This record gives sequence, structure tokens and C-alpha cells, in this order.
Amino acid sequence: MTARTIDGKAFAATLRARVGDAAADFTARAGRKPGLAVVLVGEDPASSVYVRSKGKATLAAGMESFEHRLPADTGEDALIALVDRLNADDAVDGILVQLPLPRHIDERAVLTRIDPDKDVDGFHPVNAGRLATGIDGLVPCTPLGCVMLLKDLHPDLSGMEAVVIGRSNIVGKPMAALLLKESATVTTVHSRTRDVAAHVRGADIVVAAVGIPAFVKADWVKPGATVIDVGINRTDDGLVGDVDPAVAEVAGALTPVPGGVGPMTIAVLMRNTLVAACRRAG
Ligand code: GUN
Repeated sequence: MTARTIDGKAFAATLRARVGDAAADFTARAGRKPGLAVVLVGEDPASSVYVRSKGKATLAAGMESFEHRLPADTGEDALIALVDRLNADDAVDGILVQLPLPRHIDERAVLTRIDPDKDVDGFHPVNAGRLATGIDGLVPCTPLGCVMLLKDLHPDLSGMEAVVIGRSNIVGKPMAALLLKESATVTTVHSRTRDVAAHVRGADIVVAAVGIPAFVKADWVKPGATVIDVGINRTDDGLVGDVDPAVAEVAGALTPVPGGVGPMTIAVLMRNTLVAACRRAG
């Protein structure tokens, strides 16, 4: 069996086009474009590329892009003062502070300062709490993109066995919460799990978000299972996912790396910015 390839790139392009149409409607109604502010501290090359892509996608969706590039030695107080200004700025609907931040800055202090209703990353504890308790909020982009891809394939996830590999605040935990909201039976496995393979073998859906190249092996995967690879690992062989390519011989459907989950993250960021703008406009 060869797995069907889940075309995240095409799905993301469709989503971005839909967001663009809705952004044009918003602009006509509100008399202003939805606005996204992206803050980058320092010159990390990968972060710099991500920030540039986010800015380009924002403009392409017909939204306003506010880019703030600060030097690596920016103090925590100065960064928090910028977040306060963006919170108070009515032209700004979404605020994203690119991670990782330089080590001298307390990431939590900055992320919790962002107005939860402008928190398009969905990283604020208020949004994590809303997601956990079923209240509408802003949901982290990568896991929401994964659920959109999954629901395209399986419109009803109810009762399916889902295993999430990884427990990060950015992907693993919100992913598990979203799958639970869809009434899947959810297991989260992590670095202290005694037998990861045994859990994965029982799964209809596997979401790999561990950051270890080719971690998920073909003989762990149930034939026909749907496998979502969130990993983007830079190796000497180029970009590699968390799923061994041999899994394609066993799985029913699999996201490629690149071209799977990656493009969804930015498309959902555009969607979250539009959602934040519409909620703020009332
Ligand atoms: N760095 C890597 N991924 C992300 C993301 O989704 N949001 C932010 N803010 N920083 C990141």
C-alpha cells in the first residue's frame, strides 16, 4: 500500500484565498483592513525567513502588515512596552512575537502581556484555557491547520483513536485539546512514555510533533492510518520530518515535508487575524 499524499500546500492556498475574500468584505464594512503586527527580536536566519513570509502572506490576503524588527540586545522592558503599544493600537488586530526570543528575555512575561483577543498565535494562557474548556478563542495555528487537514479526510473524527506524539505548548497540548473537542479518543505520548510504538500501533490518526528526524517508524503504524507529520528538522540531507519516509508504505494518508503542515501554519495565521478583526469589530 502506498499512502495518499495530503496536499497541505494546495489546501493552504485555498484557505488563503477564502481569507482574502473575507478580508475584502471586512475592509468594505469596517472602512479599514485587518492588521497583523509581527515582532522579531534579533537576526536568527530561520526566524527572519518566517517573519518575511508572514508579512508577504498578510499583504497577499489584503491585510495590513506591521513589521517590527528589533536588535538582539533589546531589553525585556522595551519589548513589553512595544506589546503595550500594539495592544492599544486600533489598527492592529493580531500580534505575533516570533519565537524563540533571545535568552535574556522571559518569553512567558512577553506572551502573557499580549491582549488575548489579539493573540493570533493562541499562546496566551487565557486562550489555552478557552480551548481546554470549549470557549471560543484564538487557537494555535499549527494544530488548527492539522485538524483542518484531518477533517478534510475524515469529516467525523468522533470515536477515532488518535495519538499525539509530543507535549509542547505550541503543538502537542493544543493538538490533543482540538482532537478531544472533535470527540476523538486521544492519547498523548512523550519522552517519558514507556512504549511509544505500542500506543502508535493502535492509532487511526498519528500526529508527530517531537522534533526528531524520522522518529516514527513504519512498523509502528497501523495499516491505513492517517499520519500528520509536524516535524521540520534541518539536517545535512535538507528538511526532514518526524516520520520515517518508509511509513508511506503502510499508512493510508500522510502529509509530506515540506508541503504538508508547514504551509497550513501561515494560512491559519491569516485566518486567525481575520477572526480577531471580526470579533474586535463586533
Ligand atoms: N517560532 C516557530 N513557530 C512559531 C509560531 O508558530 N509562532 C511564533 N510566534 N513563533 C514561532
